[in-house]
Amino acid sequence: MIGNLNHIAIAVPDLEAAIKQYEKTFGAFVTSPTDLPQHGIRLAIVNLLNTKIELMTPLDNTSPIAKFLERNPVGGIHHLSYVVPDIIAARDQLKNAGIQVIGDGTPQMGYHDTRVLFFNPKDCLGVLIELQETKAAVQKDRVAVKSAVHTGHHSNKPSLEGVDGIGINVNVDFKSKTPKDNLEKN
Ligand code: CO
Repeated sequence: MIGNLNHIAIAVPDLEAAIKQYEKTFGAFVTSPTDLPQHGIRLAIVNLLNTKIELMTPLDNTSPIAKFLERNPVGGIHHLSYVVPDIIAARDQLKNAGIQVIGDGTPQMGYHDTRVLFFNPKDCLGVLIELQETKAAVQKDRVAVKSAVHTGHHSNKPSLEGVDGIGINVNVDFKSKTPKDNLEKN
C-alpha cells in the first residue's frame, strides 16, 4: 500500500544549530527556514538523494512540537511520512487493521499542499506515521520500479532513473551508533 518514504521529520530545539550541523558537519544541502504559522512550526528541509529530512522547531509554546520537545529536550525523530496514492483507501485499510487515525479521520492539507493523515504511534511500533497523498509520485515510481525489475542487470543504467534509493550504498554500523553506545564513549 505505501509508496516511498517522503520524509523523516526531526523536531529540534534550535533550528539554526540544526541547519548548521546538517550543512557544515554532515555536508548536506538545507533549504532556508520557512515559518508555517498554521502548523505552529518553522521548517527547513534537508534534501538528500533518496529522501528528505524535515528539521522543525515550534514557533511558540502552543505548537504540538513544543510538547514533544519537553519530552525530548535535545530533539528527536517526530514522524515518518510515507506516500500513498489514495489517502482515503489507505486510511480505511489501516483503520480496519486496528490502527487509530489521529483526529476525526478527515485528511488535512500538509506543508506541501498534499492531503495528510497521522496515525497513533501506539499502534505503529512506537512511531508516529504520516501518510501523504501524492498520486503522481507513486505512479511514476511504480512504473520506474517495474521497468527496472524487468530489465534486470543486462539493462542500460538509465532504466534505474527515478527509482529512489537504488544505487545508494551506505554502509552504516547501526550497533555502534546507538545513543547508548555514544554516551558510553563520551
Ligand atoms: Co511530515
